[in-house]
Amino acid sequence: MNSYKLLNTVGNTPLVKLQNINPYPHIEIYVKLEFFNPSGSIKDRIVKHIIENAEVNGLLKPGGTIVENTSGNTGAAVAMIAAIKGYKAILTMPDKVSKEKQDALKAFGAEIVVTPTSAPPDSPEHYVNTAKRIAEEIPNSFRVNQYNNLKNSEAHYLSTGPEIWRQTDEKVTHFVAAGSTGGTISGVGKYLKEKNPDIQIIMPDPIGSIYFDYFKTGKIKKDGNCNYQVEGVGEDHLAHSMNFSIIDDMYQFNDNDAFTMARRLAREEGIFGGGTGGANVWGALKLAKNLKNPAVIVTVIPDSGVKYLSKFYNDEWMKQNNYLLIS
Ligand SMILES: Cc1ncc(COP(=O)(O)O)c(C=O)c1O
Repeated sequence: MNSYKLLNTVGNTPLVKLQNINPYPHIEIYVKLEFFNPSGSIKDRIVKHIIENAEVNGLLKPGGTIVENTSGNTGAAVAMIAAIKGYKAILTMPDKVSKEKQDALKAFGAEIVVTPTSAPPDSPEHYVNTAKRIAEEIPNSFRVNQYNNLKNSEAHYLSTGPEIWRQTDEKVTHFVAAGSTGGTISGVGKYLKEKNPDIQIIMPDPIGSIYFDYFKTGKIKKDGNCNYQVEGVGEDHLAHSMNFSIIDDMYQFNDNDAFTMARRLAREEGIFGGGTGGANVWGALKLAKNLKNPAVIVTVIPDSGVKYLSKFYNDEWMKQNNYLLIS
């Protein structure tokens, strides 16, 4: 009996097979619907794990303040858990984060601090540096630090990975996930490769992120500026929670690839996900196209399309930004 607590509903999300978008009969593509988590995204898993560990280790004390830099989803998870447990939450984010996501954090009672998307990683105005400063200034505060906290990928190693293994009856052959902190791909990838070293781990990365070049050349591109519109994947700095050694290949995508695929998922599969879900399925299809043998590809839909109604689910916004419209 799970004692009916909201936090006990984190994880164990459904895995569903794409029925209409996948044109390759010898390939099965499954998507894990992470918007079933209580605050609406995959980030509930990591924040729950990190906060519970911080409490056990005395890093977060009753009445404390949780601080985090977030593109919105980690913020929603922090804000929800803070509301349940009686903590204060202060969340920093770049100004490209959708209004729906910003408002959701306020609905949970959190304080938000919005910084310019154009602020470079070494600027005090960058959203990560702003969170660091706030955490230093406020007594009895705890910073989730999702980019460098190894409990992030551990949460996926302990929950998402085993769920995928079980839900595919141990038949998964490929896992695809775009990354920001890298927690999802690193934790799931580590778990699956331990179970079967032949499983391939593929990461789509948005053009403008530094990860693709770093993976291919070991060098950090100077013009990695994150000036793309997809929210929540790719980076302008390296995250310690990203384990490049478990990644077998990366593909570059653009906003149009992600947004048009997200819209197709809603219209052709009834799956109403965010732009990174679109990017992940785009990556799964690109992979499938080149596979000769039968395969079981799994990817994730990290969050819900509700958060992007004013953006790529809005036809006017799509036209204004010169993205293709799928009718
Ligand atoms: C919508 C969305 N998709 C995907 C990701 C990437 O997940 P991870 O940080 O585990 O790499 C994030 C992370 O912020 C996100 O917000």
